Amino acid sequence: MFGPPGAGKGTQAERLKRDLGLTHLATGDILRQEVAAGTALGAEAKRFMNEGKLVPDAVVIGMIRGRLECAPDDFLLDGFPRTLPQAEALDVMLGELDAPLQAVVSLVVPNDELERRLGGRWLCRACGRSYHEVSNPHTPRDDCEANGPGACDLYQRDDDRPEAIATRLATYATDTAPVLGYYAERGVLVQIDGTGALDDVYARIRAALATAP
Ligand code: AP5
Repeated sequence: MFGPPGAGKGTQAERLKRDLGLTHLATGDILRQEVAAGTALGAEAKRFMNEGKLVPDAVVIGMIRGRLECAPDDFLLDGFPRTLPQAEALDVMLGELDAPLQAVVSLVVPNDELERRLGGRWLCRACGRSYHEVSNPHTPRDDCEANGPGACDLYQRDDDRPEAIATRLATYATDTAPVLGYYAERGVLVQIDGTGALDDVYARIRAALATAP
């Protein structure tokens, strides 16, 4: 899953995981778990994340390599790769695992909509699900996978402050968007309109994946 901050990668990955039985590997989630656990990796990553900057390639590549070595056959990467060196490293890792990359789903959303989404996002500390105070509000009927029905523990991320959002969008444009060309050349890039209702975006992704090479 590829796309700028707030494009809906985590939201849609959650649905793909549920419906296709995939293992979901999200670098942002893994880094936040490392920060919460107070590990050395988390301490190094935290200052970059809070400012909205990318964590150094060597740190993220080492981290994802460890996860891929124990991943089952079918997995979904969310938020990785985000730079050309990460994309090149992923090719090597997938080659070693004999696990070809099937599709890169890129969600396309304009910046003013991204700012609205990030500014109104609430996440569950327990199950990790993402909600939005206007477009996808948490309700008492929502089941928390960890705490049970209606028992999500909601919070807003430190990097969803306006200054960090601006840095994240600028970093996406300079460092991450060039990765799109890398995958377009390989014929695995699927561009999806990420605007509109959550169900509509999901239907577009499923339709595109059904016909992906
Ligand atoms: P990460 O956690 O991956 O953050 P991100 O890429 O900035 O993406 P987000 O999680 O903010 O957005 P999303 O696209 O998942 O959107 P969501 O579904 O939540 O990374 C955080 C940090 O970790 C990075 O800044 C960096 O420091 C570090 N990092 C991570 N990976 C790295 C890497 N590979 N290399 C280096 N550093 C790395 O949706 C957002 C909101 O919009 C939600 O409220 C949702 O409910 C709402 N929404 C979703 N879809 C719609 C819709 N269709 N209509 C209306 N609202 C919607």
